[in-house]
Amino acid sequence: MNETKVAASGEVQEGRLHAVKVGGHTVLLSRVDGRVCAFSAKCPHVGLSLARGKVDKGTVECPWHGSRFDLCSGQNLDWARSVAGLPMPTWSHALLSFGKKPAPLSLYEASERESSVYLRTP
Ligand code: FES
Repeated sequence: MNETKVAASGEVQEGRLHAVKVGGHTVLLSRVDGRVCAFSAKCPHVGLSLARGKVDKGTVECPWHGSRFDLCSGQNLDWARSVAGLPMPTWSHALLSFGKKPAPLSLYEASERESSVYLRTP
């Protein structure tokens, strides 16, 4: 495992996403109750970017089909229920899932020291 300095502590804020590149992958950072959490920017639904996702109370909602995840545990909370922010009727949710089963975010291990944020990468 390698540890890479990816951001200054001040760049990672509560209620916001901060994108960084690590090993050719985009990783999103956010802060929840003071703790830095990090996850792949690729939504586990169909791989579109979560970078413009809506952050609220420790969760992120994908801007494409509304899947929602816990920022720190990665747990899936809602799966494919809207299109570009427009809520879709319940009967259409199975179609919107495109055959994909609910899945969690891919998490990265983040740490913080001396006003910097580090990520562990394989
Ligand atoms: S790509 Fe994120 S919910 Fe579909």
